[in-house]
Amino acid sequence: MKNIAVFASGNGSNFQAIIEAIQSGQLNANIQLFVSDKKKAYAIERAKKANIPHFVFTAKEYESKAAYEEAILEHLHEHNIDFIVLAGYMRLIGETLLRHYEGKIVNIHPSLLPAFPGKDAIGQAFDARVKVSGVTVHFVDAGMDTGPIIAQKAIEISDDESRESLQAKIHQVEHELYPAVLQKLLSSRG
Ligand code: GAR
Repeated sequence: MKNIAVFASGNGSNFQAIIEAIQSGQLNANIQLFVSDKKKAYAIERAKKANIPHFVFTAKEYESKAAYEEAILEHLHEHNIDFIVLAGYMRLIGETLLRHYEGKIVNIHPSLLPAFPGKDAIGQAFDARVKVSGVTVHFVDAGMDTGPIIAQKAIEISDDESRESLQAKIHQVEHELYPAVLQKLLSSRG
């Protein structure tokens, strides 16, 4: 069974969905480490509740991205992490992590990439008045929400949609899609 690390910067509802998918047997993986760049992220509480070791850092306290990624790397190695799952981690992954985990880092993004990369993808789609948006799971490369696409799910935006209702729809799809995609990906890797 693969050892995974989950990275998140905020609420961590996707992290929670992954924890629950493991508990229910839908996903075969061990979350051996949780990483956050935000001391106040609610996701940290979720890690504590689930007894998952966590590493929380503040980027400003390191002299460079390479320096904090080296610190992350030490924790990843200590916990024998095979695979990194980004779940609302709002930082670009740098060379240091990519070099060690190339092809082994995935991300979820709340739009049909390549449309609406970056921050507030849900707001961007809402403001653009598109009729269809969705969710993308992709491998991570050095770009912002770029990298080979693994899976996508479209969501229709109704005429009376609000930002909040769209966000709720997107989260619901994310919470089902991400664990299912991870299960396929991790089980196909032996
Ligand atoms: C999710 O909607 C995820 O797709 C998005 O952050 C949210 C985190 O929510 N990620 C990105 O925008 C990456 N560019 P959560 O903390 O409740 O899981």
